[in-house]
Amino acid sequence: MEQTIYRGLEGVHIDTTTISRIDGQRGELIYRGYDIRELADKASFEEVAYLLWHDDLPDRAQLDAFHAELAPNFTVPEPVFEAFRSMPAATHPMHAIRTAVSLLGALDPEAEGVDDANVHRIGLKLLAQFATFTAAYARIRDGKDVIAPDPELSVAANFLYMLNGEPPTPAATRVMDVALVLHAEHGSNASAFVGRATASTLTDVYSAITAAVAALKGPLHGGANIGVMQALEEIGSVEAVDGYVVDTLARPNGRVMGFGHRVYKVVDPRALILKDVAKHLAEESGDSKWFEMSLEMERVMDREMAKRGKQVKPNVDFFSASVYRMLGLPRDMYTPIFAVSRISGWMAHLYEQYANNRIMRPRLTYDGPLGRTFRPIEQR
Ligand code: SDX
Repeated sequence: MEQTIYRGLEGVHIDTTTISRIDGQRGELIYRGYDIRELADKASFEEVAYLLWHDDLPDRAQLDAFHAELAPNFTVPEPVFEAFRSMPAATHPMHAIRTAVSLLGALDPEAEGVDDANVHRIGLKLLAQFATFTAAYARIRDGKDVIAPDPELSVAANFLYMLNGEPPTPAATRVMDVALVLHAEHGSNASAFVGRATASTLTDVYSAITAAVAALKGPLHGGANIGVMQALEEIGSVEAVDGYVVDTLARPNGRVMGFGHRVYKVVDPRALILKDVAKHLAEESGDSKWFEMSLEMERVMDREMAKRGKQVKPNVDFFSASVYRMLGLPRDMYTPIFAVSRISGWMAHLYEQYANNRIMRPRLTYDGPLGRTFRPIEQR
């Protein structure tokens, strides 16, 4: 019987979920019923992480208790920083982040249990620790001292504080909160799917999150935000954007980073929010080069895709690149920052998977040779 093949698992629904819903036709995203535009505008990342892990947004007492659970877990064991110091300075930060998760698993004497209580215990640790070891890696590879987390600060503020060595301004903290809210969760994207598929074997949380981090690194997924800034820096000016896009699209399978999406067939709602953030940062900083270049790239892509009868619009990675650049964040840390946020969504998916598990095991349709007779090596 002829099997239908769904390459890239396009359109395949693997389970039900109550975490988030993407409407690709209307360009809408909700986390547990709340519109992403309202969450980005009004919620902190810690409120959204709580929402993703529970049934609703926290009240003041629940949020304070959540932060009180996170705060002692901000600290990271010294062997993680020793491992970072053993890496060449040119190590891709996502190799460092992935290694940190693996090592934390090796150092946790209770890593193995996948009961709800242990999964939540580890989830809290990782949500708190991702910001700490990500900031620490950026400083260690630059030969700087590690800055210890401030338990009074939120995840967003602490990340900027541990990265830069000084308390962030309220404005920078707000931008970081918005970025972390927008990157927190997005259904069964490649890294969340890999995390769920790994957890479906009932292996431990650290192993599943290590797999998710490995998947996020790829340039077609979380690595695209670095690719966007690499392209903008390579192009160098607004005037050169047109030629870059035309040349890129002329190449076989040429892809302009930060554009297109498997699910969104119109512009990604997160890109629209980040576009507005980038616009405000450009106006406030006076450094509008990257934003102007991004607008030009969007215009040329629209023109070129219209010629091809296609809709290929900016995704979350496109304007996040210029936002992070204007926040002064190092380019190769953009994807690790994506992970600092997405650990919240990944853990929400692991809670769901472990709670109602069935091992994931899709098929491949064999179309190779049949009926061959074995021949001794002398006769081959
Ligand atoms: C993220 O899944 C998620 O939710 C991910 C994410 C999340 O929050 O977790 O949203 C985060 O990963 C966003 C995506 C970041 N990646 C990029 O920006 C890399 C560039 N984008 C493309 O490689 C691509 O659009 C993907 C990977 C995002 C989607 O791949 P698909 O669904 O397999 O689409 P495709 O490559 O088959 O393209 C469909 C058509 C093609 O035309 P044809 O060859 O069929 O004629 O659209 C065109 C492509 O040519 N196209 C592009 C393009 N993306 C799609 N053309 C030029 N540049 C692009 N970026």
